[in-house]
Formats: sequence, structure tokens, C-alpha cells
Amino acid sequence: MKVSTAGTPSRHLQAGPFGGPITVKHRIGRIQEDSVAITVQPITPDFAAEVGDVVLGQPLAADDLAAVRAAFTKYAVLVFPDQEFTDESQLDFARNFGPLETTVFKARKDHKLRLHENMADVGNLDAENRILETNDRQRLYNLGNRLWHTDSSFKRLPAYCSMLHARSIPPIGGQTEFADMRAAYDALPEATKRRIAGLVAEHSIMTSRAKLGFADFDETEREEFKPVPQVLVRRLQDSGRMSLYIASHAGAIRGMADAEARQLLDELTAHATQRQFVYSHRWRVRDLVIWDDRCTMHRGMEFDDQRWARDMRRATVSDVAPTCEQMGLAVAAE
Ligand code: OGA
Ligand code: MN
Repeated sequence: MKVSTAGTPSRHLQAGPFGGPITVKHRIGRIQEDSVAITVQPITPDFAAEVGDVVLGQPLAADDLAAVRAAFTKYAVLVFPDQEFTDESQLDFARNFGPLETTVFKARKDHKLRLHENMADVGNLDAENRILETNDRQRLYNLGNRLWHTDSSFKRLPAYCSMLHARSIPPIGGQTEFADMRAAYDALPEATKRRIAGLVAEHSIMTSRAKLGFADFDETEREEFKPVPQVLVRRLQDSGRMSLYIASHAGAIRGMADAEARQLLDELTAHATQRQFVYSHRWRVRDLVIWDDRCTMHRGMEFDDQRWARDMRRATVSDVAPTCEQMGLAVAAE
């Protein structure tokens, strides 16, 4: 709860982004206080929304955090325009949602990190902030982000959510698209729902990279990136909604021939990424976009990455348990 005393101008009383006043909502029963709740503006009925009247780069009031989390239970993608962050304050905001992941580049000893090890560097800059050359390993590795995926489904404990901040963006291209795996699940024929219930897929980041012909993994990486089991269908503990859980990282399905598994995964991906399930985000500098990795897929869109710097930094929060465990499935070790 933010309180502004008489005579102290509140940040909430500044002009809105287009010069007009912003809405000030007084909380009932708090007449003495000039407090403001966050504003949630739907982009789609229940998939994506914009959120305003909140500053994320500083410690959040408990009720603001609760309101953001409530919005994030309904909408799987939240866009927070015009947020200033340092790397530390972005990571601090993410820590409100759970423990942070460590970047996959840390597994590669010869990789020089540009950012904090808890930050995924999905832009096109090297440790000296120069544009990555066409054949740079990091660039080729990150091309995998152009395939529909969800973050870290290749980790035994996968991601709960990702928080991507735009520090610099290309003037054209470089959008990020998001697909709603809950809506996609709901729209499946009943026979397909029955067919995929209880199935377990094997996810590895080497599988998604292999689709692009990228196979530059050393021994440490091969060990770390061994396939992990994930359910194909999950129930979200907070909203209770069912969701598909698929990604470019998925290859085999346990108990199914490889050809049939690949065909099924391709068909589910084609179904789930139809336009009616997709929100395409055109970035503005200082946008923070957070998405629920449990029930979305996303992909980066093309831009002229030899001409424009795109500095995008992602904090990622781990889920509470492996998906098979969450669904009460005992899965045999490989
Ligand atoms: C990511 C990702 C795509 C993009 O940050 O996880 O896949 O558009 N990003 O940068
Ligand atoms: Mn991603």
C-alpha cells in the first residue's frame, strides 16, 4: 500500500504516457490515504493484459504484488510498459515469484558471460556489447528461440515463469509471439484429449538445437542436457485450468515409436499455434513482459541482427516441482 501524505506529490499523480491524467482509485475504507491500485487492461479476454500504475524496479507493496500475482493467474502474459531496471532490480522483482534459474551458458566453460549468471542473455550482443557475428556460437544457439518453445522444459525442474526486459530493440522486426496452451488444450477434440492424457515426453535443449542442425555441445553440456521427462498435459495448481505442455525441446514420447511421437508433437504444435491462440508482442524499450512457462509457448521473430542491437535480458523463475510429480505420475528413471 502506497500512502502519500498531504502536500507530497505522489508518483501516481503524474501525467499518463499520452499526457492525460491517469486513473486514481481510492480503496474503500482508506479514505485518508491517497493510494492507488495497479491497473490491469486486457489485451485479449483471458490470455494477455497490460499492467500499469506499478513500479517494479523497487520493492513492491505486498498488496500490489498480490494483485500482480492474481492477474498472472488469469492472464498468462503480462506486459508492463515503461519499467526501469538494473540487472539486480530485475532479478529482485523476479525473486518475488520463486527461486531463480541459472543461464545455460554457464555449462560452457569457454563462454564469457555478458550478464549476471541468473540472467538469460537472449539479445545479440557479446560480452563487449558488440553485435554477435553471423557464425558466433551464442548467436546460432539463440536462433533456437525462433522455434515455438517454453523455457527450460529441458530441465528436470522446469521454469514457472520468465521475465524479459527490453533494453534496446530493433526498429522493425524482433517481435515475440506467445501461444496459449490452455486455450489450445480446451479446443482439442475429446478423442485427442483422451489419447494424450498421461503421456510423458522427453525434453532436451539438444533436441531443439538439432532441428536447426546445431550440435556444438561439449561433454559437460551433453551430460547436463540429457533428456528429462515432462507430462504432455498438466493441470495448473493456481487456476485449476488444464494445459498442453509441449516445446521444440520435446522429442520422444515414452512408450511410443519415435515416428509416431514426432508426428503427434508436430500436430499438437501446429494446432496450438494457430492464430486464435497467439498474441504477438511488438516491443517498446523498457517493456517488461512476463509469461507463464507452464502454459504458454513463445518464439522470437526475425530482425536484421547484423544491423540492429537487440538487448533483451531474461530472469527466469523455477517451478515448484517436476511436472510428472505435480501430476502425481511416478516416472521410471532412464
Ligand atoms: C526468451 C525467448 C524470444 C525473443 O527470452 O526466452 O525465447 O523474442 N525470447 O527474444
Ligand atoms: Mn524462450
